[in-house]
Order: sequence, then structure tokens, then C-alpha cells
Amino acid sequence: MKKLLRISAWAIGFVAVLVLVAGTGLYLYTQRRLDTKWNVAGHALNTPTDSLALERGRRLATTIAKCSDCHTADFGGGVFIDAFPVARLYSANLTRGKGGIGGQLSDLDWERAIRHGVKPDGSVLLYMPAEEFQNINDEDTAALIAYLKTLPPVDRIVGTNSVGPLGRLLYAKGDLPLVPAEMITHDAAHPAAVPMGASVEYGRYIAEIGGCKGCHGPGLSGGAIPGAPPAWRPAANITPTGIGHYTEEDFFRALREGKRPSGAPIDPLMPFRFTKDMTDDEIRAVYMYLKTVPAKAFGGR
Ligand code: HEC
Ligand code: HEC
Repeated sequence: MKKLLRISAWAIGFVAVLVLVAGTGLYLYTQRRLDTKWNVAGHALNTPTDSLALERGRRLATTIAKCSDCHTADFGGGVFIDAFPVARLYSANLTRGKGGIGGQLSDLDWERAIRHGVKPDGSVLLYMPAEEFQNINDEDTAALIAYLKTLPPVDRIVGTNSVGPLGRLLYAKGDLPLVPAEMITHDAAHPAAVPMGASVEYGRYIAEIGGCKGCHGPGLSGGAIPGAPPAWRPAANITPTGIGHYTEEDFFRALREGKRPSGAPIDPLMPFRFTKDMTDDEIRAVYMYLKTVPAKAFGGR
């Protein structure tokens, strides 16, 4: 009996040491990646001041690229993932109010944050989807920056990000897109401007910068939303296999009212509170583009 007790004490001790060593290793490994400074030159742009460009910037920020989804409607930022032990993350206050970074960024700093996912000192921005925004063309990026610089100041000091043990594990496994800067080829050229209007090309552009590919997957075939808790509904297959039966009218209804052709509601994880404000041409463009993507089985990437 005594011997058995001694053996189990040993076993428990052994496991505890293993857990400690693995935990420390995980912490050190992920922290090294999180602390990495990126030497990103960025792409200098001429920021416009005309009202047409500012309006384009506003629509990108509030409707097409949905910056306000995370940075809140007044762009003062706040907590947007509160899921410890995965992570507690705060989006930045983008205004020039107290606690905001708006007054401190040069135009080049803005560009490097949006399309490269780094701060002015080269440290990484957590979970800020620059891997999608790297596809925003120069003209639109400049319009976006111009608009953000006009935001009314909001005084709000947001909290400090923390990544918990489970978040670190998921990140190390490649299941949490925590550091978009690691997912970008920083010296690659950004795409050329696409004429706006109801065209396949413009539809593809919106699908890339508007998060459709971010959630529905690079091949738009649906599956688990990257980094989402397991309880969340997967994104739908929006290749022709999934929504080939949609008429253009059905598609408008899905994006404007959050309803399927049958009238059944679509889960509000699908951001129709934003897509409802897309123009007719924009929705039509995405519909035209989705008709051209290869049909894939659900989750076939
Ligand atoms: C999925 C959520 C999300 C979306 C969408 C998003 N952001 Fe962010 N953004 C963040 C988070 C989180 C941070 C803070 C990251 C950190 O502190 O590590 C951030 C930080 C920033 C910063 C701060 C840079 C700095 O120097 O501190 C800028 C600028 C920014 N975002 C601009 C934008 C713009 C412009 C858009 C839309 C095109 C956008 N963001 C969309 C989550 C988001
Ligand atoms: C934040 C993640 C997210 C983004 C961004 C997103 N979707 Fe979705 N979408 C979903 C989810 C999740 C569902 C499934 C909802 C359900 O099962 O009820 C869905 C469902 C849909 C449906 C209904 C499909 C069906 O089976 O009837 C359509 C259409 C759709 N999305 C189109 C788009 C388009 C176009 C875009 C880009 C403009 C987009 N989505 C952006 C998460 C997203």
C-alpha cells in the first residue's frame, strides 16, 4: 500500500513537471512570436482631401471593410473578444481623443497598420485582419486614411490585450489567426484599382476586402470561421454548390434582410447589419462574382 502511494505520488509529480515544462515552453515560444518586431517599409500614399474621397473612405470603414464592427460605431474602440482563457482583446481607439491613436499616426503609419498589421514601432497588431486589408488598393486605402483622420475625437482608454493559455495553444497550432503580420508578404505589390460598378472583378474585390473570404474561406466553401469558438455556426458554402439556386433577388434578400430564399432567418453571425448598406451595384457585383467561382463541397476550402 505504502509502495503504491509512493508510486502514485511520483506519477503525479512527474505529470505536474511535464505540464509545467510544456506550459513554459508554449509561453516562451508564443511570446517570442508576439514580441517580434517587423521591419516593414510600407507604401507611402497621397492622402486626398476632396469630399468624394472622404465619402468613399467612410463607406469603406462603415460598410464594405466593416472597420466599425470591431472599432465600434464611434471608432473609439473597446473590448471585442472577451473569451479568457483564449484571449481578451481590445480594438484601438482610432480617433484623436484621449486614449486614441489618431493624433499620433503619420499617413505611412496608418498604411502599415491597415495593410501590414504593424504598429509604428514594428510590433504586431493582434487579430487586426490586415491579411484581408492588404488587398485594399492604394486609392481606397488613401481614402480610408483620409476619412479616419476626420473622425470626431472620442475620449476612451481601452484596456490591454492579454492572450491566455488556450489562445496560445490554438495560435501555436495555427488555429487562431492572432498575428496577421505573419500571414502577409510585406514587400508584395498591392492590387491595382478596379473600376467600381456591377462587374465580376469589383465583386471579387469586395469579397476579398469585405470579409466574405475571411469567414467563408479562401474558396468560399464555408466551414468553421477561423479562430471562432467551437459553438459558433460554421460559415455557409457560398460557391454554386451552396447557393447556386439563389436568384439575384434571393441574394439581395440575404444580404439586406438576413433571410434565405425559403424565408428562414440566417444567423446574425453573417454580418447583414453591414451588408444591408451595400449599394445595389455592390451587391450585384458580388452576386456576379460568386456565380463564377468554382463549385466546391462544404468546407472544401
Ligand atoms: C476583427 C476586428 C477588427 C477589424 C474588422 C478591424 N480592426 Fe483595426 N484593430 C483591431 C484590433 C484588435 C486592434 C488592436 C491590436 C493590438 O493592439 O494589438 C486594431 C488596431 C488598429 C489600428 C491601430 C494601430 C496602432 O498603431 O496601434 C488601426 C490604425 C486600425 N486598427 C485600423 C483599422 C481599419 C482602418 C479597419 C478597417 C479597414 C480595421 N482596423 C478593422 C481589430 C480590428
Ligand atoms: C463574420 C463572418 C462572416 C462574414 C464577414 C460574411 N459571412 Fe456570410 N455567413 C456567415 C455565416 C456564419 C453564415 C451561416 C449562417 C447560418 O447558418 O445561418 C453565413 C451565411 C451566408 C449566406 C447564406 C447562405 C445560405 O446557405 O443560404 C450568404 C448568401 C452569405 N453568407 C454571403 C456572404 C457575403 C457575400 C459576404 C461578404 C460580403 C459574407 N457572407 C460575409 C458568416 C459571415
